[in-house]
Amino acid sequence: MSSDKTGDTPTGSTLWGGRFSESTDAFVQAFTASVTFDKRLYAYDIAGSIAHARMLAKVGVLTTDECNAIVAGLTDIRAEIERGEFNWSVALEDVHMNIEARLTERIGVAGKKLHTGRSRNDQVATDIRLYLRDEIDIISAELRRLQTGLLDLAEREADSIMPGFTRLQVAMPVTFGHHMLAWFENLQRDHSRLRDLRTRMNSMPLGAAALAGTTYPIDRAYTAELLGFDAPAENSLDAVSDRDFAIEFCAFAAILMTHLSRFSEELILWTSAQFGFIDLPDRFCTGSSIMPQKKNPDVPELVRGKTGRVNGHLIALLTLMKAQPLAYNKDNQEDKEPLFDAIDTVKGSLRVFADMMPAVQPRRERMREAALAGFSTATDLADYLVRKGMAFRDAHEIVGKAVKRGIELGKDLSQLPLEELQKFSPAISADVFAVLTLEGSVAARNHLGGTAPAQVRAAITRARTRLAGG
Ligand code: ARG
Repeated sequence: MSSDKTGDTPTGSTLWGGRFSESTDAFVQAFTASVTFDKRLYAYDIAGSIAHARMLAKVGVLTTDECNAIVAGLTDIRAEIERGEFNWSVALEDVHMNIEARLTERIGVAGKKLHTGRSRNDQVATDIRLYLRDEIDIISAELRRLQTGLLDLAEREADSIMPGFTRLQVAMPVTFGHHMLAWFENLQRDHSRLRDLRTRMNSMPLGAAALAGTTYPIDRAYTAELLGFDAPAENSLDAVSDRDFAIEFCAFAAILMTHLSRFSEELILWTSAQFGFIDLPDRFCTGSSIMPQKKNPDVPELVRGKTGRVNGHLIALLTLMKAQPLAYNKDNQEDKEPLFDAIDTVKGSLRVFADMMPAVQPRRERMREAALAGFSTATDLADYLVRKGMAFRDAHEIVGKAVKRGIELGKDLSQLPLEELQKFSPAISADVFAVLTLEGSVAARNHLGGTAPAQVRAAITRARTRLAGG
């Protein structure tokens, strides 16, 4: 098929057509355009342009009148976009040229001076940073909301006993509060990763002027200050070409989603008839179109599933960046959709988790029964024998035999009569039952990081102080 041509003149409606003698193929125009997705960056593009114009006026490249006209024009355009009245054009390729063309349409020749001493390479690298910085702050706040909900839940359930598992086999009793605090710690590291990344990415690309810097007497520190960057980027080639901050965000997001997927998996198991450890309120579940009895844990299932797409975005960005020569390459236009989707997915997942977790209803009796069923205090009996002077390996062997007897009789260790227990070791006396109870077992793990209710309460107090510290 012959090429479709766009525009009436070779230069068409583009802002770069001077050296071209035919207009872009219609499909190529659509194929290379990014406006359908990068228009999301409009507010940051406008903020970057306003700061650039102010800096150009400060150093005398623009007159004050020109600068004022640009600032007023861009402010009106922002309002136009927000009213849904802006006419986005694929022929103008991306968010940057759409806004710039509209500015010139509105204010005339001053609009054509805005692009002095800058490039779209600088603009896009700046816009994404500004956008991501705001999204990081929103995500930080959602993470904190979820963490606070977990602390409240942990506090309510500091004494509730459930089986702790290793390899999904009952291992030792733990408190539900302690279990929630484990997820709190996961999220605490995620939060700290996010804050580190925010600091690292907060340097300003503007002034790179495509790649080498510009011949105008620009004041990059001033622009950086206007935009809330910590400093201008040190190297112009680096400033426009690397997307490591987007990769880092996706790495943060993939780790966070991996944590949430594990958490989800537990919630899904715990709502099943076999576990029955918790109830999820109906508003977080759906039913089955065929099986009337069903209540499905959609929210944790979907969050578990969405982990896959975020992991995919991380790999997409790493692969996009791999082996790119300096400086900017058009490949980098492909950074946006994975990044945007990772942001949307993380925000949605955190929001729904933060809404749902405070509403989780633990079924204390059920959890207690499950902890009793799996010989979860066997290690306590071994430790008891060690305290009576036995070597741990011998104690382990003896308790193993007692468990075998319990299985035969269908009874937990705490339900075996004293005489029965004494057949395994004369060192066992009536005080053994204090350590064989679930409450005795958890209360005995009374050190920093342990599951004892007193330790859980102390950990919650420390956690609240850590949160208050930022
Ligand atoms: N839409 C482009 C992107 O997202 C903007 C930068 C284009 N730069 C260029 N030299 N064509 O990467």
